[in-house]
Amino acid sequence: MNTRQTMTTRTLARVIESVPTSDGAGVKLRRSLGRAQGMRLDPFLMLDEFSSDDPNDYIAGFPSHPHRGFETVTYMLDGHLRHEDHMGNRGELKAGGVQWMSAGRGIIHSEMPQQERGRMRGFQLWINLPAREKMKKPAYRDIQPDEIPVVALASGARAKVIAGTLVADGRSTPGPIQGLTTDPLYFGVELPAGATFSHPVKADHNAFVYPYEGAVTVGPRDAARAVVTHNAGVLSPGDGIEITAGPQGARFIVLAGHPLREPVAQYGPFVMNTRDEIEEAIRDYQSGKLAQPAA
Ligand code: FE2
Repeated sequence: MNTRQTMTTRTLARVIESVPTSDGAGVKLRRSLGRAQGMRLDPFLMLDEFSSDDPNDYIAGFPSHPHRGFETVTYMLDGHLRHEDHMGNRGELKAGGVQWMSAGRGIIHSEMPQQERGRMRGFQLWINLPAREKMKKPAYRDIQPDEIPVVALASGARAKVIAGTLVADGRSTPGPIQGLTTDPLYFGVELPAGATFSHPVKADHNAFVYPYEGAVTVGPRDAARAVVTHNAGVLSPGDGIEITAGPQGARFIVLAGHPLREPVAQYGPFVMNTRDEIEEAIRDYQSGKLAQPAA
């Protein structure tokens, strides 16, 4: 019996436009996911893109601040940030590198530019943790550029494999981040004009694409719809994606992940399931308990 099924290519379900905002001590950025309630895409809570050649837009950085209950993923395209946390950990985020931080029960850290001029560009994505992992021990990984595979595909695409496994041209290429409950795929893709990036995506995962240079169309060629630069295109259900670059070519990130389907209670950098847990997080931060190891 032939059990092979035709792949259903995802189409564009909605667009979450980015809006200019600032965070930290005045870093200018564009926020798409997470810019308002209901603009999340479970398990993805927020996506910020920072991009500027003007030091005034980034130099103040993100001084000491807390997080609890989720993960932050910082992907640097250009520039140099230094991360320092309350446990004495220090990490350098440089162009092409990624920091994957699981805040768990609590981390207090700073993310500060280590340059006074030049371009600072990258993304910070927040990914939720399931209820049973929100109070786990904090951990992070600083992943250097040479630890992240970049695969040249027959289509002309170059795909950087940050999380999950790229399956293309008959090869599987695992990225450095594997085995999380949200099972994320996180690829950074460059496409020449008119080329298409195709990839399988688990049918029950939520997915979006965010072009940061050029524009793309998503969906099968006969039903493709455009997503312009600096907007998040949320994809419909299906088990595959097809993303085609416009006439300028395109660079984009594409994400997919297993939805947690749990209530989200958020207050700034605390993301829990209930209001009571948020109040506890605020008390723990004020009393200094957030940054202490679990008893
Ligand atoms: Fe942070």
